[in-house]
Amino acid sequence: MRLNQNTLLLGRKVVLVPYTAEHVPRYHEWMQSEKLQRLTSSEPLTLEQEYAMQHSWREDADKRTFIVLDAEKWQAQSAAAKESCIVNLFFTDPGDPTLREVQVIIAESSCRGKGLGAEAALMMLSYGVTKLGLTMFEAKIGQGNEPSLRMFRKLHFEQVALSSVFQEVTLRLTMSESQQRWLLEQTSHVEEKSYRGKLTESC
Ligand SMILES: CC(C)(COP(=O)(O)OP(=O)(O)OC[C@H]1O[C@@H](n2cnc3c(N)ncnc32)[C@H](O)[C@@H]1OP(=O)(O)O)[C@@H](O)C(=O)NCCC(=O)NCCS
Repeated sequence: MRLNQNTLLLGRKVVLVPYTAEHVPRYHEWMQSEKLQRLTSSEPLTLEQEYAMQHSWREDADKRTFIVLDAEKWQAQSAAAKESCIVNLFFTDPGDPTLREVQVIIAESSCRGKGLGAEAALMMLSYGVTKLGLTMFEAKIGQGNEPSLRMFRKLHFEQVALSSVFQEVTLRLTMSESQQRWLLEQTSHVEEKSYRGKLTESC
């Protein structure tokens, strides 16, 4: 995580900023939702545990965790930006240095269905390819989680496994030359900037 602690990625609809301690209370609030816990296979944590988790992710070289903000509100730097739609996505490392698991969460349900999740995911994948040299991505999605399954399929992920025990589908994207070209085209508008903390992010 330390490697992206000063990285801000500016897209058309979303801005990705590193997940820092100042985001924890809001993130904690979102993750109180039993539905989100179920969809993301997460355990409910106390606020204290959430701070400890953020700290451990920060120290974990295998994770890159970003909070994603609504780009329009972020650009306007207005008070309304406090209500920015936020997404959390991060890589986890299942063991292979060229493969990472990617998770996307649009925590604010009113922000779903507007293309934020897809753009945030593409930006994260592009970051993984260009900055981390990754060549394969996986997503583990609950069998009944249709929005998420559809989104990853739209992003060219293909099903490689189905666990009837966990009722979970594993989808994979392997970066062939043509996939990489496609991904970089989709994200050619993304600008990388230096992240300087809460004031620049207006959250
Ligand atoms: C899955 C999730 C990230 C999608 O984010 P989003 O911003 O709403 O998605 P987008 O608006 O970018 O849509 C991208 C694609 O996803 C699919 N999709 C999104 N919402 C959908 C819905 N309600 N029903 C069916 N498909 C849907 C569509 O294929 C859509 O493309 P299209 O609009 O061209 O048809 C969001 O619903 C979410 O956070 N869900 C809860 C957390 C979760 O389950 N995360 C996955 C675990 S890793």
